[in-house]
Amino acid sequence: MGNPATCYLNGELMALASARISPLDRGFLFGDGVYEVIPCYGGVPFRLDAHLRRLANSLAAIDLADPLSPRGWTEVFEQVCRANGGGDQSLYLQVTRGCPERRTHEFPGRSEPTVFVMSSPLPAAGAFADGLHATLREDLRWARCDIKAVALLPNVLLRQEAIAAGADEAILHRDGQITEGAASTVFLVRDGELATPALHPGLLPGITREVILELAEQHGLPFRCRPIGLDELRSADEVWLSSATKEVAPVLRIDGDPVGNGSPGPVFAAMRGWFTRLREATARGRQP
Ligand code: PDD
Repeated sequence: MGNPATCYLNGELMALASARISPLDRGFLFGDGVYEVIPCYGGVPFRLDAHLRRLANSLAAIDLADPLSPRGWTEVFEQVCRANGGGDQSLYLQVTRGCPERRTHEFPGRSEPTVFVMSSPLPAAGAFADGLHATLREDLRWARCDIKAVALLPNVLLRQEAIAAGADEAILHRDGQITEGAASTVFLVRDGELATPALHPGLLPGITREVILELAEQHGLPFRCRPIGLDELRSADEVWLSSATKEVAPVLRIDGDPVGNGSPGPVFAAMRGWFTRLREATARGRQP
């Protein structure tokens, strides 16, 4: 590529390096905003409707009007993706409650939201398929993790602690049950059955999670959305993580102990194949 990265800020396309936001922006001062990460395969946003639906839910939950129509968002995504060379990109969008004149906790009377979109190259298909290591830690976050809020300090600290421990991701638990990863959804396989925590306000409804459950359904892989205890996770045959940027990836070690036999399992191999075919079909413009 070589060209400077392009972003969208408040109605305009511009060089990312020259984009400027006021220090009074409520995203900066309070983390008062929401975001989305949308993978684009071959320049085609994957599961765009689901991402826009989740964005609408996050905005409604913080009482912020959606600044663009679905068509408006789609046009911005196309422009940003194209300006950054197309192909496989990860789109990042953020909407904050704007920059009023004064810092007050309560909502400002009037302020235009700040709307920002950028994109960066997406890791290649299967980039994480060789496996990841995880830590298992207490979930320190607030009780509304279903909102994709930009305030991510606990997630940042938990991820950093995992990295410092030589792992890639922190798997989180609250009240004895797995919630999710610091930036991913958690799955396990036990006796040939796939399981992931049922949705509740303590975790993000992952779009990749939805895709994985659809693929399981289509291919006759039994699955259940149900509580997962710590011991069950530690003694699972397979553990996976999923996200927009990681697709689906096997976890080979948790706190240094092997998961199953310590290598990617056969159910993961099947899911990876189904996912890759879907990704390729999307890139060819035939999003099922
Ligand atoms: N995060 N849970 C959390 C806390 C996440 O941050 C993410 C993704 C997921 C998976 O959701 P999805 O499948 O829709 O990406 C679950 C993105 C990638 C991020 O913050 O960069």
